[in-house]
Amino acid sequence: MSAMKRQLHLNLFIHSRGHHEASWRHPASSPLALTDIRYYQDLAQRAEAAKFDSIFIADQLALAEDVAQAPRIWLEPVTTLAALAMATTRIGMIATASTTYAEPFNLARQFASLDHISNGRVGWNIVTSWLATAARNFGGTGQVSHADRYARGEEFMTVVKALWDSWAEDAVVDDRVGGHYARADRIRPINHRGDFYQVAGPLNMPRCPQGRPVLVQAGSSDTGRRFAARHADAVFTAHVAKATAQDFYTNLKALATAEGRPSDQVLILPGLSPMIGSTEAEAQRLAREVDDLCDPEVGRKRLSGRFGGHDFSNLPLDRPLRPEDFPDPGLVEAARSRTEVILNLVRRDRPTLRQLLGYLAGARGHFTIAGTPEQIAELIEEWFADHAADGFNIMPPLLPAQLDVFSTEVIPLLQRRGLFRAEYVGETLREHYGLPWPRSAFAPRGGLPRAGWRG
Ligand SMILES: Cc1cc2nc3c(=O)[nH]c(=O)nc-3n(C[C@H](O)[C@H](O)[C@H](O)COP(=O)(O)O)c2cc1C
Repeated sequence: MSAMKRQLHLNLFIHSRGHHEASWRHPASSPLALTDIRYYQDLAQRAEAAKFDSIFIADQLALAEDVAQAPRIWLEPVTTLAALAMATTRIGMIATASTTYAEPFNLARQFASLDHISNGRVGWNIVTSWLATAARNFGGTGQVSHADRYARGEEFMTVVKALWDSWAEDAVVDDRVGGHYARADRIRPINHRGDFYQVAGPLNMPRCPQGRPVLVQAGSSDTGRRFAARHADAVFTAHVAKATAQDFYTNLKALATAEGRPSDQVLILPGLSPMIGSTEAEAQRLAREVDDLCDPEVGRKRLSGRFGGHDFSNLPLDRPLRPEDFPDPGLVEAARSRTEVILNLVRRDRPTLRQLLGYLAGARGHFTIAGTPEQIAELIEEWFADHAADGFNIMPPLLPAQLDVFSTEVIPLLQRRGLFRAEYVGETLREHYGLPWPRSAFAPRGGLPRAGWRG
């Protein structure tokens, strides 16, 4: 049997009525309310029918300041995933949760529970919460600094991994006749005492189907990359050009190798927001149509949020921007890597503020393109072949309309090229992503691997 060709991975990022800032106003986006679970269930089912590896729901822990002009994320992701697990059978599902504003015991328990509920289809997007206003909802202190957020995140990971590993796979016997429910010697405390957390353990729930949820990470600063290299099974990242995506890919794979991890076990999934039409002109017309619904003042507020609240209100809309118009990214305590993406764009293209905000309205600094299905498939294959990506975080500008076009027009082209599955093979997200089972800290009982042992 010939070795299988390297396979592409596709995640559907569900956001508002589409990733374009003005998607919610466009007639091609869903008429359902953004608090209606049927909207999310329907999208998850469409993505499953198209054989996507997974769906992803992001989260922020404060109301956005532009709520008067644009919706963002409404339902809480962990509870949402429980509902989506009941509406689907095969697709993986990933939710954001914060290491800065959650307790590791609660989070480990919620994600283990979701993994049981979904039969092994859950992933956790680990974020440290860059939004400055989130801090005000948790104790009223100021923004936790970039460095401190990652330091806390590192210890958080030690604790949750130990909790997920506090039950052996064979701890539950459930022997009704003998009256023996569990093997107490196959469940153990973790006794963690660190700088930020004191957690005795064990987890109050049996080991979850995937051993632990698939771990996803989306911070691309230097600290964020080292964190990803240690912990992430998959990495979401934003790039506006193939060259920077390639540099990121090479760098992160090397960092993973330096951490002693096989580099093919850290999947790199850059964002891609394609506006697809049957001709290039139609795609561009559609893109212009949504662009025309944008309000530049929304963009200005969002830009300010990205730069930790910096005031851009006096910046004229129509003169070319200079890097000096922005604060130094090294001093920004918010989403540092995205500020660099934006500054690189300014250095490269010298756009006016209006043009920059127009670009960011598409998908907030992720790669956007308007084109035909063939052009999109070509781009995907090229990035994949040139080691800029192991797959993509697909961010349709309009939902569900542009998801459907992607599924019916682009995915078949990828399948014909032998790059993407025609049917699911595995049952779990770990299997869809081609990842090994995490090694258990418990030795197999009696020293011999038992049937089904996946340590
Ligand atoms: C595709 C993608 C999704 C993200 N989702 C979230 C999210 O849901 N919540 C959040 O607070 N940050 C989210 N982020 C931001 C990152 O987690 C991270 O905080 C940010 O990139 C700043 O980290 P850095 O300074 O290491 O780059 C996302 C980033 C990317 C690329």
